[in-house]
Amino acid sequence: MIYPLPAVMVSCGSTPEEYNIITVSWTGTICTNPAMCYISVRPTRHSYDIIKKNGEFVINLTTRSLAYAADWCGVKSGSDFNKFEKMNLTAIPASRIKAPLIKESPVNIECIVKEIKELGTHHMFISEVVAVNAEKELFDEKSGLFRLNDAEPLCYLHGKYYLTGKYIGKFGFSVQKKKGKRKA
Ligand SMILES: Cc1cc2nc3c(=O)[nH]c(=O)nc-3n(C[C@H](O)[C@H](O)[C@H](O)COP(=O)(O)O)c2cc1C
Repeated sequence: MIYPLPAVMVSCGSTPEEYNIITVSWTGTICTNPAMCYISVRPTRHSYDIIKKNGEFVINLTTRSLAYAADWCGVKSGSDFNKFEKMNLTAIPASRIKAPLIKESPVNIECIVKEIKELGTHHMFISEVVAVNAEKELFDEKSGLFRLNDAEPLCYLHGKYYLTGKYIGKFGFSVQKKKGKRKA
């Protein structure tokens, strides 16, 4: 019931023959320093053994233009299809690990598995972030701020995909002093 969540495309594999993509919603940040995140994957998934064997994977954020591929990679198995080929996605080399990045994704997070927690239906891959690749065009030239919202990131909410909604405030807005006239 903890929604909305991202629906990310996790790429894995150490050789082109092994490369695969699994869509994952059980994912998140779990530590700032060292930068750590997790994905939870059912052992029955084709990707499970690949990630476990190689101890690494890439979290690729998804957008409106990747919605179809994200859904498709989440219902079809790499044991039957080459998902990169079928979805016309480009595998490009990562900087620190062997698993490929998905070029079409605006943010690729390279992860190395530190611990596997066998929780039940899903096993949690607790992982360290070793590199993050972000699309240049999404950086505001003047402020240098990263404008991920411009890429129209996907949200997943009770089995349905949405784009992020209306902007309603920034971090800390609840305690920010209102701009106005100074007291004399
Ligand atoms: C939006 C969405 C979210 C999903 N989240 C997860 C998840 O968190 N963990 C998981 O094991 N499978 C998840 N799945 C299912 C897998 O992506 C799906 O079983 C996929 O076909 C597995 O691919 P593979 O066999 O090539 O590894 C999700 C599917 C969708 C569509």
